[in-house]
Amino acid sequence: MRAIARTLRRLRRSPFFAVVISVAASTAATTLVAAAAEAHPAGRWTKEERAMLRSLSLASLGPLPADPSNRYADDSAAARLGRALFFDARLSGNGKVACATCHVPASDFQDGLPLGRGVGTAARRTMPIAGTAYSAWQFWDGRADSQWSQALGPLESPVEHGATRAQLAAVLGAAYRAEYESVFGKGTLTRATTGKDGVDRVYANIGKAIAAYERRIGFAPARFDRYVAEELAGGVHSPQGTLSRDEEAGLRIFIGKGSCTNCHNGALLTDQHFHNTGIAAAPGLAVDSGRATGVRRALASEFRCDGPFSDARPDDCAELSFTVTEGPELVRAYKTPSLRNVADRAPYMHAGQLATLGDVVAHYSAAPAAPFGQSELKPLRLSADERRQLEAFLRTLSGPLAAPPGWLEAPAARR
Ligand code: HEC
Ligand code: HEC
Repeated sequence: MRAIARTLRRLRRSPFFAVVISVAASTAATTLVAAAAEAHPAGRWTKEERAMLRSLSLASLGPLPADPSNRYADDSAAARLGRALFFDARLSGNGKVACATCHVPASDFQDGLPLGRGVGTAARRTMPIAGTAYSAWQFWDGRADSQWSQALGPLESPVEHGATRAQLAAVLGAAYRAEYESVFGKGTLTRATTGKDGVDRVYANIGKAIAAYERRIGFAPARFDRYVAEELAGGVHSPQGTLSRDEEAGLRIFIGKGSCTNCHNGALLTDQHFHNTGIAAAPGLAVDSGRATGVRRALASEFRCDGPFSDARPDDCAELSFTVTEGPELVRAYKTPSLRNVADRAPYMHAGQLATLGDVVAHYSAAPAAPFGQSELKPLRLSADERRQLEAFLRTLSGPLAAPPGWLEAPAARR
């Protein structure tokens, strides 16, 4: 008891005394709590900070949002078909490219390259897929307004799958007739392949099946999430939920002086919006205006939420109706990426412009002017120690993916 009294005397001088004292209900755990708080002084959080930590933790993630534009989104037979299609290289012009060629499940569904490489080379970096069902807009520029309409883009892109709609319908007819018709209706594939509209319908349905698969891929807790849970439960940390002093200091910068949570907020650490952060243009690529062009393409798409291939009612398409379509803030604005598992997927930014997490943190510290458009960032002027701490914190956001058993691999029969 004397030791506890001594600890409490020391703590009384700290603003966190109240928090600690409320836990100090004369149990044996008290010494542990007090000792832990002392070992990590940076780990004591105000009420507001605790609310922020809670909001960033995976435990705050809401239920998977419905996709009224895809009637098959939660159909498990559609998801099984979508999974097979995701891994099938026959859906490509040269028979060698599947979604999984670039979105490698074992690498967080991306490829570690600055620019995605399929039949040719893409003009942007491959994005991870886990959690994207929470995102109203897909792609770095948000040019698709659903997961199913997104999936159609790479299939026809000459540098990704390089396939045609007629070719895709033929592959479905030859290899997936039973699976396809059990989801989309008997005879639909035969009828579909006879006319242009039918080929488009099969094309849209391929997207809907793939989206049903992708929806089921999410995140499992990272060390950061365990830390937050334990912090909110009183501050006793398990080995799996401990942050080092540097990591805690980095977290403090992340939610404080760094203003990172202005954009990287919520349980996926993204606001799902578009921002110009002054990332340099990648040399050798065509001019990229980001969201400014992306929003126009989303509105022009025949596969948009209120289009003829969507299952939504017009009033289900609020995102589309209310999105900002013009303004200087859209120029070179890109979708805020989730920071979950970010340490495992260098290089960074929409065209892999920054090689390491250290380079990313240095970018935020300096906040250079945008090549065109206006960067929203202000220089943070972080010290070398602060940069190191912020980077250390970003590394605590890595955890496993969550998916039905075996779904992070190609289905056995088609490997
Ligand atoms: C050649 C590599 C490549 C292939 C093949 C490929 N992708 Fe991608 N994927 C990318 C790139 C690059 C982007 C970003 C493109 C952009 O923003 O312009 C992307 C973006 C995405 C996104 C957006 C994620 C987000 O957060 O907005 C999803 C989802 C996705 N791809 C799924 C798929 C599916 C499904 C397939 C197969 C039908 C596929 N991709 C095939 C490279 C590829
Ligand atoms: C104004 C909104 C905004 C703020 C503030 C912001 N970010 Fe970002 N962040 C973005 C956007 C947008 C991108 C993608 C930019 C691009 O590719 O051009 C990004 C990309 C990143 C990436 C790379 C992820 C990847 O997959 O490529 C990391 C890491 C990152 N931010 C960390 C931070 C940290 C740390 C802070 C605070 C110091 C911060 N961000 C502040 C919007 C923001």
